[in-house]
Amino acid sequence: MDLNETSPREWLYLTTPIYYVNDIPHIGHAYTTIACDVVARTARMTGKPVFFLTGTDEHGQKVWQSAQKFNLSPKIYVDRIMPRFRDLWKSFRISNDDFVRTTEDRHILGVQDALDRLWKKGDIYEGPYEGWYCMFDERFWTQKDVPDGLCPDCKRPVEQVRETNYFFRMSRYQDWLVNWYREHPESIRPESRYNEIMGFLEKPLEDLCISRPVSRMPWGIPIPFAKEYVTYVWFDALLNYITVPLSSPGGAENLKRLWPATHVIGKDILTTHAVYWPTILHALDLEPPRLIFAHGWWTVNGEKMSKSRGNAVDPVVYAERYGSDILRYFLMREGQFGQDADFSDSALVQRVNADLANDLGNLLSRVVAMANRYGEAGVFRIPEDYTPSPELLQAAREMLPEVPRLALRFEFHKALGVLWNFISLLNRYVDSRAPWVLAKDPGRKNELDSVLSDLLEGVRITAVYLAPFMPQTAIRIFESLKSTESLTGLSYQTDGVWGRLPKTLALEPVSPLFEKRNPDGSVQKEPRPSRQEPPEKSGGTPVLASPGDAPSTDPENPGQVQPEARPAKPEIDLEAFQKVELTPARVLAAEPVPKSKKLLKLTVDIGREKRTVVAGIAGSYTPEELVGKTILVLANLKPAKLMGVESQGMVLAAQTEGGVSLITFDRDLDPGSEIR
Ligand code: MSP
Repeated sequence: MDLNETSPREWLYLTTPIYYVNDIPHIGHAYTTIACDVVARTARMTGKPVFFLTGTDEHGQKVWQSAQKFNLSPKIYVDRIMPRFRDLWKSFRISNDDFVRTTEDRHILGVQDALDRLWKKGDIYEGPYEGWYCMFDERFWTQKDVPDGLCPDCKRPVEQVRETNYFFRMSRYQDWLVNWYREHPESIRPESRYNEIMGFLEKPLEDLCISRPVSRMPWGIPIPFAKEYVTYVWFDALLNYITVPLSSPGGAENLKRLWPATHVIGKDILTTHAVYWPTILHALDLEPPRLIFAHGWWTVNGEKMSKSRGNAVDPVVYAERYGSDILRYFLMREGQFGQDADFSDSALVQRVNADLANDLGNLLSRVVAMANRYGEAGVFRIPEDYTPSPELLQAAREMLPEVPRLALRFEFHKALGVLWNFISLLNRYVDSRAPWVLAKDPGRKNELDSVLSDLLEGVRITAVYLAPFMPQTAIRIFESLKSTESLTGLSYQTDGVWGRLPKTLALEPVSPLFEKRNPDGSVQKEPRPSRQEPPEKSGGTPVLASPGDAPSTDPENPGQVQPEARPAKPEIDLEAFQKVELTPARVLAAEPVPKSKKLLKLTVDIGREKRTVVAGIAGSYTPEELVGKTILVLANLKPAKLMGVESQGMVLAAQTEGGVSLITFDRDLDPGSEIR
């Protein structure tokens, strides 16, 4: 069920898995929780009532073993680890409405009540059990599952166990479940996961062993009708989704209002959620979940993340190094939510430098600095007769259905893509309207103020759409614009539309929103600009911009855009470099490009053929002096048209104070010689 299809007044009851406290949080936990937070915040901004639940799974073998390892009682141990999760979510600004611990009375009583009801109904029975038990995964396997004596899931040795246990009659509900899924194919997402579950349900379902003898593992919820047993940790944990609403004010009525829930989980815990859980719910006379969305796994530099490899990514460390909003952005932007994705410092640094520092951070600094500078005594006034730019207005209107719609479909990377298109549009608008040129002409004051009003509104609207993803950044932008929005009560309908800025703004220049990073993640010492201004209106950039030409840079705000020293770029491997075809090329002919002050059209010999390349070097070289030179050309760049001439490569040159300096060779050589 697509969340967009539920009625706006219907509750969104959204849950994360409750996390095991056998270890500290890692990036996988943060991923699920942040994704839920984005959905919760988005839904609230559309006006939907939301109840967002997360918590910790504190019973069971794994937790018990960890406590033993530290020589602590399990309760003292879980009390120490739980705050690591709770506090992490606070630092990530997770907007959960409740946090449940399975060791709380409200949960324990709810589980015992459910057990009693199922026992009285005959859905739980006592029976002999003989099977192969995997300690690590806390589950039994049959003989045929373990021909090699190893757990099929974790590959650890299994041990034979014979004991009396309690079973939930899961098999009884198999046909019902298959029918339910046939009728509700949209209730498991992505579709591949739905197919996986339907495949799983083709095999006969066994009853579920839901007890553990206290003699073997005492750390669990006592079974009310069998004191020498505790509840199997998964049976205990899944019930959190109903024990919380049931124990909150309103009890059963409250649950009725919220149910069915939307569960966001990792793909590894799909069977428990999509098979065990709906059958338990059905036995308790409750509907299956509205939606189960199983996301992919994060690998680290291409490797599976695990404790034994020592490559688990600690969200606390990354939040400290980069800030939690940046990590939120990266996790939501990189990869597709249903698929696996790879975590690497270089990918993170690239996102920070390009998307955040360059595109968004520079935009805010430029716009605020200009509004401050071109206002009267620092006070900027939106003109009385201001009419917004139709292009920007249209783009903002399109975001209103699109960004929340995509976020509520868990297509976070696409939602951010739409928002970043808007940010790019605003950046292009700064360049094309060049307020610093308008500012030189007192007769164009009204035009200047209208352009700045467009930009200020555009940036404010950007912050509204950004808020579910980067709440702290959104607040910083609102504050920089002296706009009065707060995260509570923020709404797409009222705040996401044009014209909400105060009419008079006394803005002060803002410190950069994001610091640029070196490839190792450290902050670049002197924040360097990196927005290279486009050469004329070419669209593509296969030539270097000539600095002597029209004022495409922003001289009023040089710190932001002047191409001085460049920041370091993320590391690449040799393979990436080998994709680039650099070749010495002899200039056979050169001529100006009509109507252009800075472009020259060169005919060059690259050894195997002749090429036409267009280069923005007219300010530094005359056509005559170029003919006969051997220069360096990037030969496998996609051709692009520049002022009507197709350029079939790019001439390489260094940017210098006075212009550009072409790369040449200190010996005679043949065009086309290999560059290594
Ligand atoms: N306690 C159970 C859930 C009970 S819910 C009723 C549990 N806890 S967990 O702490 O082990 O895992 C919680 C979530 O973290 C799972 O959704 C799991 O998929 C996710 N991740 C664990 N490692 C992960 C990655 N490497 N990448 C992404 N998510 C991963 O299971």
